[in-house]
Amino acid sequence: MKKKILYGLLIIVIAIQFFRIDKTNPKINIADDFIEITEPPREIASILKSSCYDCHSNESNYPWYSNIAPVSWWVKHHIDEAQEELNFSKWSTYDVKKKDHKLEEMAEEVEEGEMPLNEYTWTHAEAKLSAEQQTALINWIKETRKAAKSKKKEEKLHLNDGEKWSANSETTAGIKRMLAIINNEIKDVSLVAFNTKGEDLNKEMKTIFTECTMEGKPHDQLHLFLIPLVKQFRGLKNVETEEEGVKLQEGILTHLNKYADFFESE
Ligand code: HEC
Repeated sequence: MKKKILYGLLIIVIAIQFFRIDKTNPKINIADDFIEITEPPREIASILKSSCYDCHSNESNYPWYSNIAPVSWWVKHHIDEAQEELNFSKWSTYDVKKKDHKLEEMAEEVEEGEMPLNEYTWTHAEAKLSAEQQTALINWIKETRKAAKSKKKEEKLHLNDGEKWSANSETTAGIKRMLAIINNEIKDVSLVAFNTKGEDLNKEMKTIFTECTMEGKPHDQLHLFLIPLVKQFRGLKNVETEEEGVKLQEGILTHLNKYADFFESE
């Protein structure tokens, strides 16, 4: 009787070995990769590679026991679940908010000693983080989040240390002409009026771009100021309802009036 049960089990264990897991890693594009994008110091990169990448990237190295069912199914399930939460090979596809949130979670998980998973460090001793490694990783994550935030601020229209940016006089003259166009017969809400204004404003925009002699930071700021207008002018040129036209006209006027808050000509 006992023998029969043992044979039965043996047959089951052998049979399940035919249900193999898929160990092919999806193709990776190095430009999407977390380490490639965030450029951590070598020490941090090596921690991430040896303690996190097996589960949280498309560069998994499967351990020997992942050849044996049912352990293999369990490993595969872990990796799938981990990649769903956080996949370093797809970092570029996360938006700014998601990136920040994932970095925050990374620091939390490491701080609480939740990651890397214990089940993993049992067989991957080198993946276990020392207290120093934990601190180094957490500090680097904090710095990276801070740097990303200040970069975001840079990309918004802002003053030059409390002072206005100096613009070339041709640009300021162009903005003045735009204001004149939008203010001209402002009560005329016919589609023809809107479309004509849109077209005229578009022409002024082209003139500003060709006459602009600004460079560096002031030029970047001017760019940030002008880009929303390009879209609004195009909208006005093609507007199809009066209601939409009125809204666009108001929006353009408000935006143009902001010019003097940020720029002045020498
Ligand atoms: C053995 C595989 C494995 C390794 C190695 C591993 N993780 Fe995970 N990780 C998982 C799994 C599975 C989940 C999802 C389930 C969970 O939260 O426990 C996860 C979830 C996470 C989450 C999301 C948590 C949440 O609640 O949303 C973060 C962040 C994370 N891991 C960071 C890391 C970091 C950083 C490392 C390396 C220091 C690491 N992991 C190493 C398997 C792993």
